Amino acid sequence: VDLSAMNTLALPGCSDYFSRFESASELLDCVEWAFAQQLPIRMLGGGSNVLMPPRVSGLVLQSGMTSIAIRSATKEMISVAVDAGVCWHDWVLKSLSFGHGLENLALIPGTVGAAPIQNIGAYGVEVAELIEQVEGFQLSTRQWRILSRQECRFDYRDSIFRHELADDFIVVRVVFSLRRQFIANISYAPLAHWAAEYLSDKNKPMLTPEALVSAVCAIRQTRLPDPLQLPNAGSFFKNPLVTGVMAAELKACYPDVPLYPARLKQQQKLAAGWLIDQCGWRGRGLGPVRMHQQQALVLTAPEPATLAQVQALQQAVADSVRARFGVELEPEPRIFGD
Ligand code: EPU
Repeated sequence: VDLSAMNTLALPGCSDYFSRFESASELLDCVEWAFAQQLPIRMLGGGSNVLMPPRVSGLVLQSGMTSIAIRSATKEMISVAVDAGVCWHDWVLKSLSFGHGLENLALIPGTVGAAPIQNIGAYGVEVAELIEQVEGFQLSTRQWRILSRQECRFDYRDSIFRHELADDFIVVRVVFSLRRQFIANISYAPLAHWAAEYLSDKNKPMLTPEALVSAVCAIRQTRLPDPLQLPNAGSFFKNPLVTGVMAAELKACYPDVPLYPARLKQQQKLAAGWLIDQCGWRGRGLGPVRMHQQQALVLTAPEPATLAQVQALQQAVADSVRARFGVELEPEPRIFGD
């Protein structure tokens, strides 16, 4: 099956088998079949965070389940179970009718099922903060399993699904815990600027969730290319964590270097986009692939490209950043089925 339209970098790739399941029992049928044939199973979401190799062995599965249902509610919180096959942005828009907290995550490409895998985040919010539990099927034990937020071991663009449970867990549903009350998170500087301007308009005395979603979409659209217009996989590298000492040394040499607090107090996060930009890669590339003019962290494929061509640019960019700043860049998307 041709997978080139199922990954947002539009890399050419083929799998031996492909199936989209519409129910838990169809999923079990697929799993049984693959076990019987001794084929590995690879889960694909929206293909927005993967690097597609030319050939994928085994059975590629995609969730076609799209139900959304309230699980429980109190005066303060509401729990909503959302199937893995729902488009992430559609769910963010719909979530406003239940509760709040997801506004800053509008317009992130991909599916609900993929969101916990790399703990998607933007504009001061990570999805982990809103996840109550993740439900799915574990292949090695052949059992349905529910993981609490703690058990998911979320970290910056990371979770148990990229470690112990990598390639072993099929996310079927994610249960979100949303706040009934809307409290805008405008900690991210461009959103704070937008909010100050918005509130200075006497006709708009209150920040609404809808206005925040529109602002997030507008900011994203100025910097992040739409994969349908310009193939890309979002941020191509993680923002690297460095020690406080290293951060201070960099700040002394480069006073403009953007630094963000990290989860551990002794560390700081560097803006990979800034490092790449400083190395002169913004708007530049190799062959058919290029780092985006509006945001150097996004690797784009203006012309049809292969995995090898993407990896050549990845290597060249990482080499420049290492040579200039002594910082190691780690790619965010993973090679599919590796
Ligand atoms: N910068 C430059 N030149 C560039 C790009 C960025 O100087 O070409 C500077 C910016 O001026 C800013 C800093 O680098 O001072 C950070 O840039 P930005 O605010 O665009 O955010 P980011 O750190 O590059 C992260 C996430 C994005 C998320 C944004 C907004 C990662 C790897 N990326 O990007 O997530 O949308 O913050 O919160 O954490 C994704 O993961 O796919 C993604 C798009």
